[in-house]
Amino acid sequence: DREPRINPSILSADFANLQAELARISTADAAHVDVMDGHFVPNLTLGLPIVEALQRVSPVPLDCHLMIEDPDRWAPAYAEAGAAGVTFHAEAATAPVKLAREIRKAGGRAGIALRPATPLEPYVDLLGEFDMVLVMTVEPGFGGQSFLDVTLPKIRRARAAIGDSGFDVRLQVDGGVSASTIERAAEAGADVFVAGSAVYGAADAAAAIGELRRLAAA
Ligand code: DX5
Ligand code: ZN
Repeated sequence: DREPRINPSILSADFANLQAELARISTADAAHVDVMDGHFVPNLTLGLPIVEALQRVSPVPLDCHLMIEDPDRWAPAYAEAGAAGVTFHAEAATAPVKLAREIRKAGGRAGIALRPATPLEPYVDLLGEFDMVLVMTVEPGFGGQSFLDVTLPKIRRARAAIGDSGFDVRLQVDGGVSASTIERAAEAGADVFVAGSAVYGAADAAAAIGELRRLAAA
């Protein structure tokens, strides 16, 4: 189904109080967890031990976005830790089909992420291997950046390719998603929306989630 899903990114949360910060987003569809290794992107966040700890206390499923080198080696462990979704970057994976199958075998939903300059077309024939495509709407690495409108045509092509494929694949956008940009992304065909600063920067996170949901469905 195409009901919009809102996945707040805990990258903009208070890292000293993650359990309480997860409790603030209990009305969300999932918590988006940005794993960065300081190599694939110029920022370092958290890894498997913290994801395992978050999994024990989160009121919502975990949507792990791995911005790391060598996801072939690391990604299945995130599914084994209980993450509902594990998304790795196409640019970093050696064997994306094999890796997606390993994630699914470990009980996770497999996602493939594309940086703004990474073309969709090499992955169109592989859509049946994935549960989600993530079109990055900023260069990955940091929260609080501006939504890149140049990614809208790729979102449209991804929506069309998913429709043509007949597979049940979600289309996620991540980066710069806010009340002023979410309608453009939804109109282009996205159905899962990551929002970091727009949710965690709001005084009332539940209200911000509700507003994004309303705008995405309009
Ligand atoms: C960026 C991360 C995003 C980030 C989004 O590399 O993948 O998930 O947290 O933050 P905002 O919504 O503030 O752009
Ligand atoms: Zn992310």
